[in-house]
Amino acid sequence: MTDISSQLDRENIAKVRIAELREELAQHNHRYYVLDDPLVSDAEYDKLFSELSALETDFPLLVTPDSPTQRVGGMPLTAFGNVRHAIPMLSLNNAFADEDIVAFDKRVRDILKVVDGEVDYACELKFDGLAISLRFEDGRLMQAVTRGDGQTGEDVTENIKTLKSLPRTLRAAAPKVVEVRGEVLMFRKDFEKLNDAQRAADDKVFINPRNAAAGSLRQLDSRITAKRPLRFFAYGWGEIGDGIVEGQEAVLDAPLTAPPFDTHTGMLDWLKELGLPVGSVRERVQGAEGMLAFYRRIQDMRPDLPYDIDGVVYKVDSLAAQRTLGFVSRAPRFAIAHKFPAEEATTELLDIEVQVGRTGAITPVARLKPVFVGGVTVTNATLHNQDEIHRKDVRIGDTVVVRRAGDVIPEVVMPILDKRPADARQFMMPTECPVCGSAIERPEEETIWRCTGGLFCAAQRKQAIVHASQRRALDIEGLGDKLVDRLVEIGRVRTLADLYTLTVEELSGMDRMGEKSAQNLVQAIADTRKPALGRFLFALGIRHVGESTARDLARHFGTLDAVMNASENELLAVNDVGPVVAASLHRFFAEPHNREVVDALRKNGVEPGTEVVVDRMAGPVADKIFVLTGTLPTLSRDEAAELIMAAGGKVTGSVSKKTHYVVAGSDAGSKLAKAQDLGIAILDEDGLQALLSGK
Ligand code: IVH
Repeated sequence: MTDISSQLDRENIAKVRIAELREELAQHNHRYYVLDDPLVSDAEYDKLFSELSALETDFPLLVTPDSPTQRVGGMPLTAFGNVRHAIPMLSLNNAFADEDIVAFDKRVRDILKVVDGEVDYACELKFDGLAISLRFEDGRLMQAVTRGDGQTGEDVTENIKTLKSLPRTLRAAAPKVVEVRGEVLMFRKDFEKLNDAQRAADDKVFINPRNAAAGSLRQLDSRITAKRPLRFFAYGWGEIGDGIVEGQEAVLDAPLTAPPFDTHTGMLDWLKELGLPVGSVRERVQGAEGMLAFYRRIQDMRPDLPYDIDGVVYKVDSLAAQRTLGFVSRAPRFAIAHKFPAEEATTELLDIEVQVGRTGAITPVARLKPVFVGGVTVTNATLHNQDEIHRKDVRIGDTVVVRRAGDVIPEVVMPILDKRPADARQFMMPTECPVCGSAIERPEEETIWRCTGGLFCAAQRKQAIVHASQRRALDIEGLGDKLVDRLVEIGRVRTLADLYTLTVEELSGMDRMGEKSAQNLVQAIADTRKPALGRFLFALGIRHVGESTARDLARHFGTLDAVMNASENELLAVNDVGPVVAASLHRFFAEPHNREVVDALRKNGVEPGTEVVVDRMAGPVADKIFVLTGTLPTLSRDEAAELIMAAGGKVTGSVSKKTHYVVAGSDAGSKLAKAQDLGIAILDEDGLQALLSGK
């Protein structure tokens, strides 16, 4: 008797706790996936989840299908069923150029007969995933269907039910039938993690997050889908009402429930209230100008987004206006996709050659069959290093995926193994430098092979000069790469010092250079005879000595001779100089050849300035980290950075929790938004000046 009653007591207590835990977990999922504002850490979430799992193991009768523990998938299917969409899933017309958007707006205005004022558009991201339609009946997720051909799709309900990012029941009262449309995708970092795991298990590696999402969703075994971190963002609706589809005979004489919104923006807000994830990056704008401004803002923030997008979408906001505009063939007239140039394409890898860098680093370069990607035609792409080629198993002759995102150097992402020809060849690192014939070696524990020729190697000499003449170093205007190549090839320029003996006579006529440009170049070179010490040190191209280390050295030692004669220990005293940098500097100045170059520079009239030695710890912004963004009214970015560094501060490129100040000018983009999110102090130019002057 007592046994049974205590058993019942325990079960009742468990029941209450289980309900609490489910509610709490649902709340956390909502905060995380819908509001993007989690209350607890992943570890705390996992703890609650484990507690629930343990209770359900002890009391299996209390397990219900909608428990968060049940998102593990069910028995594998033999095939997906086909489902006809109650309302077809259409696609969008694409635009690429600004003019297309102006024309779109004009068409909309013409049809809506808008003479004065502008049309309101809802702007959102064009998620790069797969379209899906979710059907909720009486607030419960009943069916999930892929887009398919737009009329009929595949029933992937079992798979969709495993998504943690999606509630199985709506949070607020809703009409009997709510069909929500949106995109299933995978976040970039989840995709990387998945591929790492796939690689470790010798399993198929996915080309990109969209492929990974598609592969995961189209699994007949939902237990596999359950392990894949898929996300969902809603962007539209299908049927909403009492479940009576037009054309079907009304069974009940009840009026159709009208959707509780009259704009696209209102619809998305409503879906969010129902507990569905809606992308947070969206905006209501006016007219073509508003749409184009949105496009540019998103283009800037695209690299910082956690997921891939392939453009933006504009939709006429008023639903009444949408109805007036209607559809042409299979796309709405009220919406348009404004696409970014594709960042990935496939092409043939014709050959792998090696390039010699300034410090002798040998990088394999892919020679490609020309392909249009990221808005330009690409013929070369980096393969990083030999290990990377082997890791990716890229072979000459392969069809490869090439990626060019933003301004970054195009890279070969991976081979498409299905298309590998029988005669595809492995890449072999040459044993000799293709430029100077010196041995190529790989220092132990490094991934990079190097030409041992040093400045004997013309490739290294050329690049040493290109490096020294760049804007952030000596800033020699008009000295192009081609001219440097030529001057080095004919043996006229062996070191940086030789630049200062070039004459107008010998330059004019070279590289199709006229008398005037030759004069300008000789003048430009002469103008760099008094560089700031930091720039001069950076220009020397010493390994591991970047721009900011060079400035730190200048500020610490004050004169070139002091830097040149410093011992390793003295070098270590410089802020941010560690053993590797100190050793590299010491080695550089111990090398007689390098001292000869410095002497020759001095003989040719080049003399770096001296610096006032700054005690960083005492500067007004000692060791504070700054990020610059947007256009400042009077200072250029470089000038602002110099001022900050001269006062002992540091300048970095991206905003993080470690950033102390963000200096924002006009047209500041995602960095400013991120700073606001993180609560970092934001300064304008005046604020910066005041801070630096210690006021
Ligand atoms: S609206 C009737 N909005 O793009 C219009 N589509 O080419 C239906 N997509 O199949 C689509 N983000 O997979 C819409 N914010 C967004 C979108 C979006 C991505 C995809 C969707 C659709 C394709 C249309």
